[in-house]
Amino acid sequence: MVKFEQIKGFIFDLDGVIANTSVFHAKAWHQLADKLGVTWTEDLANQLKGVGRMDSLNLILKSGGKENDYTEDEKIKYATEKNDNYLSLLKGLTDKDILPGMKEFIEDLSANNYLISLASSSKNSPKVLEALDLEKYFDARVDPSTLKNGKPDPEIYVRGAEVLNLRPEECIGLEDAVSGIKSVNGAHETSVGIGDPEILNEADINFTDTSQVTLANIKKAMN
Ligand code: BG6
Ligand code: MG
Repeated sequence: MVKFEQIKGFIFDLDGVIANTSVFHAKAWHQLADKLGVTWTEDLANQLKGVGRMDSLNLILKSGGKENDYTEDEKIKYATEKNDNYLSLLKGLTDKDILPGMKEFIEDLSANNYLISLASSSKNSPKVLEALDLEKYFDARVDPSTLKNGKPDPEIYVRGAEVLNLRPEECIGLEDAVSGIKSVNGAHETSVGIGDPEILNEADINFTDTSQVTLANIKKAMN
């Protein structure tokens, strides 16, 4: 692992790292899985974390052995329906929905002149950041619609460093998803996994919840 002193930037996932919105994504996908007759399991829920909209739908269909049952147009219709449900669950989202300690952590990074970018797969991320009143802290954001490959491919985290004009070795990526940790690692950045350390066992550093994510704890884990 690189030394903490080499770090100049932090690249954030959004859903499940900054805000509790991953539960809304899961709820909306669960609802669609029920409608399509696909059994919802913890394992499927974990597979979907961090994964983009159409890739998520394809994983659900595959899990139910229904990958060849729908046309592209039908799939777009179902993905749109999921997104509409997700957006209605987001209504009333405010800075109170920021996960414990994350506002303070982001403020601390900013006060210490670290660069900050967003590497969320979500096309709704500008809306969510605005509702949380956190946009002002971000120096840059990767637009997921410009990517060739979603998480677990490294592309989004490679771009997350590029948009800050930093080298991957100078960056830390924070993730709650297995797909996201794979993406950070593939980009040759230092990965911080937030959540069950057994599930996120490929992360360089693990924290069980966001309240443990502080500069002091990251420094301790790296040096
Ligand atoms: C990720 C979430 O951040 O964004 C996934 O973890 C979600 O659950 C993905 O599917 C895509 O989001 P959206 O909002 O563009 O459908
Ligand atoms: Mg996430």
